[in-house]
Amino acid sequence: MKKVLLVTTALAAATMLALSGCASSARTDAGSSSSAAGFPADATIGVALPSKTSENWVLAGGLFTDGLKSAGFTGDVQYAGASTTVKDQQDQISSMITKGAKVVIIGAADGGQLATQAKAAHDAGAVVIAYDRLILNTPDVDYYVAYDNFKVGVLQGQALLDGMKAKNPTGPYHIELFSGSSDDANAPVFFNGAMSVLQPEIDKGTVIVTSGQTDIKQTATAGWKAENAQSRMDSLLTSTYGATPLDGVLSPNDTLARAIITSVKAAGKPLPIVTGQDSEVESVKSIMAGEQYSTINKDTRALVAQAIKMAQELQKGGTPETNDTKSYNNGVKIVPAYLLAPIIVTKATAAEAYANDPTLEPLTK
Ligand code: BGC
Repeated sequence: MKKVLLVTTALAAATMLALSGCASSARTDAGSSSSAAGFPADATIGVALPSKTSENWVLAGGLFTDGLKSAGFTGDVQYAGASTTVKDQQDQISSMITKGAKVVIIGAADGGQLATQAKAAHDAGAVVIAYDRLILNTPDVDYYVAYDNFKVGVLQGQALLDGMKAKNPTGPYHIELFSGSSDDANAPVFFNGAMSVLQPEIDKGTVIVTSGQTDIKQTATAGWKAENAQSRMDSLLTSTYGATPLDGVLSPNDTLARAIITSVKAAGKPLPIVTGQDSEVESVKSIMAGEQYSTINKDTRALVAQAIKMAQELQKGGTPETNDTKSYNNGVKIVPAYLLAPIIVTKATAAEAYANDPTLEPLTK
């Protein structure tokens, strides 16, 4: 656990946090945790979201706007732009604080660059909730609400193995690894979760990362951009998969999964088992068509509802419910979290998984 406290970079801190199951020796928050004594029922609640790098963020904006309104709050929902993402988000949060927001809910564009804004929120008496992505290296984050991201990675790693075994019961299997953007605190958490399943197989020699690129720095996808994953897959296919068959690709989300599939198709190679995450419409279609192998259902409606519930509890002067107080160390403190359970989805389970989703359920027919 000492290691957790010694790491200095945001990325390294995030890498450690999901692996650190022990809370007892971690430093507790020395500083400025906010305790709201309640606030007016129509108060401003700020929601700062990153740029729309995946469908879940697009959905979240609309759900927050509608949900905060029907809860009686004055919602202020903002997205960071695509190019000046970090500065946009910093400015948006500052402006929410100036406008008197009582709670600021943040889906961080870069979880390592919001300490100043989180402190300003606390200084103004607002409560800071990290949404989906943890905010790192600051004591000024009060709560975290997210799907269990380490579990997401575990499910992805297991799905990759299951899919390859179902296709061909005996290995060894040749795979490649992709991870998310290095400014997203979730990226190492997903990756570590997946590697907790894959590394023992790599050690046994049943799974081979043919390129040898197993370090998260080598596998990262800047900005979670499809074109970056596609061009890395293009290069890997050329450099490494002349004769060797590609059996599987660990993809951290759906947008990148489809980019990887596009690359493999363009190279005229048979499709490998490709994982994903987010249940994006195009990926659910791809799964039903037998192309992408799996995705993860992290229903955005439930996550937004939980975040709004936290704001309602704070409005009444209460303490928001949390269900995990040991897993998410942001480098400075363990942030009390409310974690929701992610669900793995394949073609075989899609109908059941999306039974209550009016958009996705029809696609599974
Ligand atoms: C989210 C994923 C999403 C990715 C890219 C992550 O932080 O948890 O659901 O696919 O960002 O937007």
